[in-house]
Amino acid sequence: MDKLIIEGPNKLSGEVEISCSKNAYLPIMCGALLTKEEVCFTKLPNLFDIRTMKRLLGDLGVSIKPHSSEKGTEYFCAENITKKEASYDLVKTMRAGVLVLGPLLARFKEAKVSLPGGCAIGTRPIDIHLKALEKMNAEITTEGGYVIAKTTGLKGATITFPFPSVGATENTMMAATLADGVTIIENAALEPEIEDLGKFLISMGAKIDGLGTSVLRIQGVPALHGTEYQAIPDRIEAITYLMAALATKGDVKIKNIIPAHFESVWSMLIDHGAKLEIGPDFIKTSPSEISPLVIETRPYPGFPTDAQAQTMALMAVMNGSSVITENIFENRFMHVPEMMRLSAKITLKGPTAIVTGGEKLIGAPVMCTDLRASAALVLTALCAEGKSEVRRIYHLDRGYENLDQKFKVLGAKIERVPE
Ligand code: UD1
Repeated sequence: MDKLIIEGPNKLSGEVEISCSKNAYLPIMCGALLTKEEVCFTKLPNLFDIRTMKRLLGDLGVSIKPHSSEKGTEYFCAENITKKEASYDLVKTMRAGVLVLGPLLARFKEAKVSLPGGCAIGTRPIDIHLKALEKMNAEITTEGGYVIAKTTGLKGATITFPFPSVGATENTMMAATLADGVTIIENAALEPEIEDLGKFLISMGAKIDGLGTSVLRIQGVPALHGTEYQAIPDRIEAITYLMAALATKGDVKIKNIIPAHFESVWSMLIDHGAKLEIGPDFIKTSPSEISPLVIETRPYPGFPTDAQAQTMALMAVMNGSSVITENIFENRFMHVPEMMRLSAKITLKGPTAIVTGGEKLIGAPVMCTDLRASAALVLTALCAEGKSEVRRIYHLDRGYENLDQKFKVLGAKIERVPE
């Protein structure tokens, strides 16, 4: 296991290239199960979660072959599926494993998937996924910690989600591509990763209308075909570098992004004094004085919960009192006590954190608890005076490609060493 040694404070400058989105690629990789033909992915990020999904799909019988020379290009073929079961060992480390449920059920009429169980940021049930599939003629039971789903054939249905769940929208969309008839998903999630999954499925021959809106209409087809696809840039990785650049009062050009995918974030920062140049596929930061922020996390296009922890790191260095309310997950402030070890002044009141910034931050040993919390600790350590040790960075490696290398190129004093 590795840890990061960070010597702060650092002012970041230079350019950083954002990788393809993990959260777009995870469902898209599951979508490869929907066809017996070959699917080629390009610029697959080299991340632990992507490797876990490859292990899960490989375990089901999907053949996965890397391109001989192009890094990140891989060929997936689900012609010979030998197993329709996603095991506890794989799903417990990565909740996105439940996204094989819809595709397996649609193509093979059966699936067994481990319940993801609790995780660090909350209970995260999958009831919305299961109710949608039941409405599409699946029979679902739970036994021994597994969801067992069977169908005589999925049928189109009108499904209204009680909450726009990202994963439930993805699972239902994939299931509907091969169902008999038309499926309407009302109150579908609007996240850019949903639109990207839809575009991928359309490139395989799926018939989907309404992408980018909260009502999706999917006309089932008898079979899907092979395709080549590259997922969108990772908006959460882009936000992480944006917050780091602003927190360190740096000049950083964040490249290979789609700025519209996180407009709620940069427009709010500009409104509060951030000097940002928004290009067609980049954002450039300049040293800025940002006035206190009041943020509430919401489903897209609202402020993303996955950016909450990193924004708190920025708040800890800005002058004045800022406020964050977390509305999506009930236990997503695990980074708070760790950030306080770096001398950040934070008070928690239920789902709300009040951050009094501008006080001196001081380096300390800290421990990662989940993916985005880990990023927030790195950002805070970059601004803290002296040496910090960020431990348990396997959480970070789940979702950030070459994070320490990318920060190093921007001038951070950051080293990865064995723990
Ligand atoms: C996805 C993202 C995750 C992000 C989240 C919210 C991936 C791989 N993960 O997670 O990074 O933080 O969206 O933007 O893309 N819920 C239920 N029942 C359900 C499903 C969800 O109650 O059946 C609740 C969850 O407990 C949570 C909220 O709805 O409180 C949001 O969950 P959801 O949108 O489903 O997030 P994920 O797909 O798990």
